[in-house]
Amino acid sequence: MKSFIAANWKMNKTISETGEFLRDFIPLVKDVTDVDIVVAPPFTALSAAAGAIQGTNVRLAAQDIFWEEKGAYTGEVAPGMLLDAGCTHVIIGHSERRQYFHEDDAVVNRKVRAAKKAGLGVIFCVGESLGERESNRTFEVIRREVEKGLEGIDADGLVVAYEPIWAIGTGKTASPDQAQEVHAFIRDILGKLYAGTAEGIRILYGGSVTPDNVSSLMACKDVNGGLVGGASLKADSFAKLVCYKKEK
Ligand code: 13P
Repeated sequence: MKSFIAANWKMNKTISETGEFLRDFIPLVKDVTDVDIVVAPPFTALSAAAGAIQGTNVRLAAQDIFWEEKGAYTGEVAPGMLLDAGCTHVIIGHSERRQYFHEDDAVVNRKVRAAKKAGLGVIFCVGESLGERESNRTFEVIRREVEKGLEGIDADGLVVAYEPIWAIGTGKTASPDQAQEVHAFIRDILGKLYAGTAEGIRILYGGSVTPDNVSSLMACKDVNGGLVGGASLKADSFAKLVCYKKEK
């Protein structure tokens, strides 16, 4: 299976910083053919990024979406607008959206439906908090998020990202065993939702992924890529992640 490595820049980088990054990054990964490479800048830099990646092997994702096609929804961005800006993918259900913007499973599901209807690939995020892990609720939370978030959704263009909240931006990466355990569990749920096609769905790991730990995580059977925050903000660091096979 082709791996999938995406940079989630969160609320970082202006238009000119995005341009500088891509100018440095694109030549470093131009020969990579065995990884789908995606960058997710903030909304304001999407259009400029789309111009910079034209004709390259780098694809563009937005970090969020709204489910309506147009209308009186101040501050929101419609699926068609993301396509128009050059996006092929969108991140949905990130724990920061769930936590700070109160997105629940029903909201996440509406967003996934709208993105898929528009023809966007979806990077669908799930993950447990530290408290949930410590009280042995990891599997219950992941099951609920996957089943509710993907209700009525087909598997086409779907990528799932497992991001334990306690590992995001903390420098505390899940061990390969911890990651594999949850990835296998997600694969099992996907197997029930999508009999026959679940094996082909990429499941990414996210949470303090760095050039130093990427190889051990990618060596896990059910880890098919990464969703990277902090270590994706510098071109050389993200290029090292994308080229993890050479770094071994
Ligand atoms: P960090 O790589 O900074 O831990 O962030 C992970 C993340 O949330 C990616 O979506």
